[in-house]
Amino acid sequence: MAGKKVRLALIGAGGMANRVHYPSLFEMDDVELVGLCDIVEEKLNETADKFEIQNRYSDYRKMIEEQAPDGIYILMPPHHLFDLVIHSLQQKLHVFIEKPPGITMEQTRQMANLAEANGCLSMVGFNRRYLPAFRKARDIVREAGPINQCVATFYKWHTGGPYYNGAIDVLSCDAVHAVDSLRFMCGDVAKVSSIVRSLGCAFDTSFTALIEFENGAAGVLLANWQTGGREHTFEMHSAGASAFVDGDGEVVINLNGERRAQVFTPQEVAGNDDNRVYYGFYHQSRHFVDCIQTDTQPESNFRDATKTMELVDRIYHSTL
Ligand SMILES: NC(=O)c1ccc[n+]([C@@H]2O[C@H](COP(=O)([O-])OP(=O)(O)OC[C@H]3O[C@@H](n4cnc5c(N)ncnc54)[C@H](O)[C@@H]3O)[C@@H](O)[C@H]2O)c1
Repeated sequence: MAGKKVRLALIGAGGMANRVHYPSLFEMDDVELVGLCDIVEEKLNETADKFEIQNRYSDYRKMIEEQAPDGIYILMPPHHLFDLVIHSLQQKLHVFIEKPPGITMEQTRQMANLAEANGCLSMVGFNRRYLPAFRKARDIVREAGPINQCVATFYKWHTGGPYYNGAIDVLSCDAVHAVDSLRFMCGDVAKVSSIVRSLGCAFDTSFTALIEFENGAAGVLLANWQTGGREHTFEMHSAGASAFVDGDGEVVINLNGERRAQVFTPQEVAGNDDNRVYYGFYHQSRHFVDCIQTDTQPESNFRDATKTMELVDRIYHSTL
């Protein structure tokens, strides 16, 4: 369908929908927002007004039937996601979901199986992968040679209870961004060894993992929700090149022994100061729409996301 407008239906008028996804789609000339569904009428109308969407629904099945879209965004809390995704795939729609892709690896795998069986394109919004500055840094390091070591860190100061009242754990739900980033840097996983701790909470909050990748590279995950505050960084090394990426700060490249040979900010690379754009949210939606137009499977499709959820499981099952 190259060149044709992509007709998208939308489920969910919540925080991420309004902050990053719908503003990005609304900007695209080759996208038509054909319908919006939410069970809370006020949110439905407010969001539909903002993005000039005429067709409004409280029943997503009715919306799909009446609008027959090409694809659908399903932006739900993770424990409400599965049935909606399965129904959409059964209607042979291309599907975009936020992370996490369900609450277990098995849910992700079943969604991947059905997407493939029905010829659907699928995508999980692992937006860190689509950060323009992270991609640029990876290109520079890879130009010098294969990445031989990588690190992903994600720290927070979490004072609340478990996520969604305990429907899902911190690693699967949120620190999964760092887990997926390790795979983005170094590929498929061979071996895992880990330390998982709860640090006084009634749920696990600290995850340290050592990973050997199939290509021989080594990776480290450091994720901890009992720290001084939010930091989220990535590190990649090859012989002669290193990148230190802070998506909220700067990217530092060391080359052939020269420290800070290149320094750039995520905003400079994206050409935009809006977090929605420089932090990968716009670019992931652009990728999904481009993939529909060219009938190409998105990079972070459900099958690929199953591997990330498998790595989450392996971190839990490989404790020292
Ligand atoms: N990529 C990121 O950095 C990032 C950041 C925050 C959240 N997220 C993820 O985004 C997802 C969505 O989070 P959010 O905070 O935007 O959600 P939210 O709770 O603000 O919004 C969900 C919306 O879905 C609606 N809804 C629920 N069930 C429905 C149904 N059956 N039919 C129609 N509407 C229904 C609710 O009324 C609500 O408006 C989560 O999975 C979360 O993990 C990602």
